Amino acid sequence: MLVIVKENYGEVSKEAAAEIASLVREKPDCVLGFATGGTPLGAYKELIRLHREEGLDFSKVTTFNLDEYVGLPPSHPKSYHYYMLENLFNHINVDPRNMFIPMGMAENVHGFCAWYEEKIEKVGGIDLQILGIGANGHIAFNEPGSSLGSRTRIKTLSEKTIRDNRRFFTKEEEVPRYAITMGVGTIMEARQLLLVASGATKADAIRATVEGPITAWYPATIVQMHRFATIVIDKDAASGLRGSYAGF
Ligand code: F6R
Repeated sequence: MLVIVKENYGEVSKEAAAEIASLVREKPDCVLGFATGGTPLGAYKELIRLHREEGLDFSKVTTFNLDEYVGLPPSHPKSYHYYMLENLFNHINVDPRNMFIPMGMAENVHGFCAWYEEKIEKVGGIDLQILGIGANGHIAFNEPGSSLGSRTRIKTLSEKTIRDNRRFFTKEEEVPRYAITMGVGTIMEARQLLLVASGATKADAIRATVEGPITAWYPATIVQMHRFATIVIDKDAASGLRGSYAGF
């Protein structure tokens, strides 16, 4: 596991975007795994800039997203589908036919999850998976206690996640209770992992992930077992680490 500590969020974003861009240049038909949330936004902005100003070409890239809320259609402004279009896909040249995001409105959720796993396998697996991390150590919607071998499935959101999400919705009944998420095992099969984190609220989770014992209670700790995992964090997120890590 390579841990890269940067001065601030802006540098974390640039570094993450540079890693992604370098793979896209080297392998134009690569398969990228995307995350949503606040942390990757800076990297996505930088990818848009690289596309516009330097011609970074995504036309042959295939993408898979980590997760989506059950019950939200792609047009819902809080859906992860909407987030991806707004924050990345509408501004670069990914072919919509090669974009895969879990379907929150799937009638047969279990069938959909099995199909999603098969689709990832059929395209040859994910080359690079981008990950954020929850303050509780979750990756995707694999909340504490998730099996470290889990596959794409429906998960009940934790009470804390439901409470945290309340502010994004106008009515209580609108707050999603379930999500479709890639499993920890699915994520671990990506050939490369790129986990980004910023800010002191992530310091405990990063310390557990980098230096703690591997436990389902902090699903992100399994990243220690990946052969090609890079963790790009800023100084605040690194503030709980005891070891010394590269600043470049
Ligand atoms: C989103 C996802 C989540 C987030 C995590 C951190 O697709 O998979 O695991 O990465 O909750 O979110 P932020 O970046 O908003 O702190």
